[in-house]
Amino acid sequence: MSTLTDKHIVLGVTGSIAAYKSAELVRRLREAGATVRVIMTAAATAFITPLTLQALSGHPVRQKLMDPEAEAAMSHIELARWADAILVAPASADFLARLAHGLADDLLATVCLASQAPILVAPAMNRVMWESAATVENCATLRRRGAVILGPGEGEQACGELGFGRMLDADVLAAQVATYFGDAELGGVRVLITAGPTREALDPVRYLSNRSSGKMGYALAAAAAAAGASVTLVSGPVNLPAPRAVDRIEVQSAEQMFNAVMALAPECDIFVGVAAVADYRPVHPAANKLKKKNEEMHIVLEPTADILAAVAALSQAPFTVGFAAETDHVSAYARSKLRDKRLRMIVANRVGEGLGFDADDNALEVIWDGGEQQLARAPKSRLAEDLISIIAERYHAESSTEDSGSAHRA
Ligand code: C5P
Repeated sequence: MSTLTDKHIVLGVTGSIAAYKSAELVRRLREAGATVRVIMTAAATAFITPLTLQALSGHPVRQKLMDPEAEAAMSHIELARWADAILVAPASADFLARLAHGLADDLLATVCLASQAPILVAPAMNRVMWESAATVENCATLRRRGAVILGPGEGEQACGELGFGRMLDADVLAAQVATYFGDAELGGVRVLITAGPTREALDPVRYLSNRSSGKMGYALAAAAAAAGASVTLVSGPVNLPAPRAVDRIEVQSAEQMFNAVMALAPECDIFVGVAAVADYRPVHPAANKLKKKNEEMHIVLEPTADILAAVAALSQAPFTVGFAAETDHVSAYARSKLRDKRLRMIVANRVGEGLGFDADDNALEVIWDGGEQQLARAPKSRLAEDLISIIAERYHAESSTEDSGSAHRA
């Protein structure tokens, strides 16, 4: 399990409605073992009181640069040196702009400038502000300088809009900070997982789908997060809560899943396609509810894009792992998928007899080029932990081979 034991975190809180989540974040960071000192900008205090964060962090909250009393206790330069990491959550568009331009017009911006500690920012803002050219450029500048941008997540926003700009939840952020310090099996590794079925609309009320429950993908996401990875789960419609410390993006159709995955895949190290993606979708979903008629109905279907194969075909492809659910010739079909889709690993499972789809148990055969391992029937949560260990081992083994390969080439 990842931990922040003995880590000194300066938590910067800026002016955003997401500041209410900072209270929970302080608790999560402290639970993970960190000592947290909070700096609030003037705008942040409009959303949450310093007293709340003082009570939760156990230290006075710093607000002003020119504060003789606070400076006498610990100057801003000492605070900058004390930090093992500076986490700004929420980071408003205004703060990102000030950070990108190296301004030192308040205490938080000054401490960021005066510190050599890594800076992690968790943006929170309206979707259009997040997508604006200025914010995009500011984030690019910050990334280039080594800042780590955590999120933002996608979903409903306080302003009523839907899209990217929501600050990641406190448990996700705390896990990602722990991941940054990279002290676990998958510490510092970014994992993207698909799970659940997809729904392909026939009309506004009907769809084609399958029996996938999402249990295997969700168990895998939880196990990867527990192994220290920062995990994003792109999920079709299922009846499961998001695992702790996992950022979930909810989609319905194969096309939405494809788009979400392709937007995130270049930023991930490992991709695991667990979702039971529909292979076909209706070519012309009806705009209005189809009416019952006493005659045959013909629905024309077209193939959906293969998400797994598309990720594996990227020029900087992540370590790509596929699943192969089969009723027969399990191993042979899985091996041909490994080859055809150019995967690094395939996880084969037999469907039926209380195993696989919509079941709590599974039995897996894990196959890669030059090796294989059987995981006997067990609850999906247990299997997920074992599978994550195998993936981590192969991922690290192949990364180190690539590193030494590139050293030879250099
Ligand atoms: O070819 P087949 O559908 O059996 O392959 C299964 C694997 O491919 C699974 O890992 C599944 O998540 C992935 N897949 C996908 N996109 C599709 C179909 C399957 O990512 N359209």
